[in-house]
Amino acid sequence: MDFSMKRRTLLKVIVLGDGGVGKTSLMNQYVYNKFNPLYKATIGADFVTKELQIDDKLVTLQIWDTAGQERFQSLGSAFYRGADCCVLVFDVNIQRSFEMLSNWHEEFLKQADPSNPESFPFVVIGNKIDLDCRMVPEEKARDWCASRGNIPYFETSAKEGYNVDEAFLCVAKTAVASE
Ligand code: GTP
Ligand code: MG
Repeated sequence: MDFSMKRRTLLKVIVLGDGGVGKTSLMNQYVYNKFNPLYKATIGADFVTKELQIDDKLVTLQIWDTAGQERFQSLGSAFYRGADCCVLVFDVNIQRSFEMLSNWHEEFLKQADPSNPESFPFVVIGNKIDLDCRMVPEEKARDWCASRGNIPYFETSAKEGYNVDEAFLCVAKTAVASE
């Protein structure tokens, strides 16, 4: 196939969730296959890119990592606009990080103000399943996702690289599908 004939698409993805749930770790695992056990809170926001092919499309995911800790958040609503997908992350071992999903979901829709709020592509990730102290049953997370318009749900370990590629592939696919 003639390479130049392929369509190239840049997709803006925003990753949100409480401080310490593993947003930065998921991105580092996905893009660099690296994991750092030390916690260094993200300040402001930064992005990484990853190229992948979906059917006959070359897709560049521009993945924006954000600060979960309130005191490090400094993003205006302009930042959220034009997003093609929003990834909501929680820690399956921390009940509060799951309860906060509704806030992150609502806040994103308010700030990004997409034309299709009912069908805007979200993906939810329950991270740190390698730890042995789960507080949020998978069923509960799946129910939450189902009640918000069937949001795809993935359980991951950024530490072990488990299910991380699958989750971001779904991010790319849902974003492409809703273009
Ligand atoms: P903020 O930048 O403050 O919003 O936090 P974050 O969501 O980016 O969390 P980060 O990726 O920095 O991870 C927080 C801590 O959890 C770090 O010490 C990570 O090493 C650890 N961590 C992240 N993912 C996993 C995981 O899947 N399993 C385990 N065991 N630890 C993880
Ligand atoms: Mg971070």
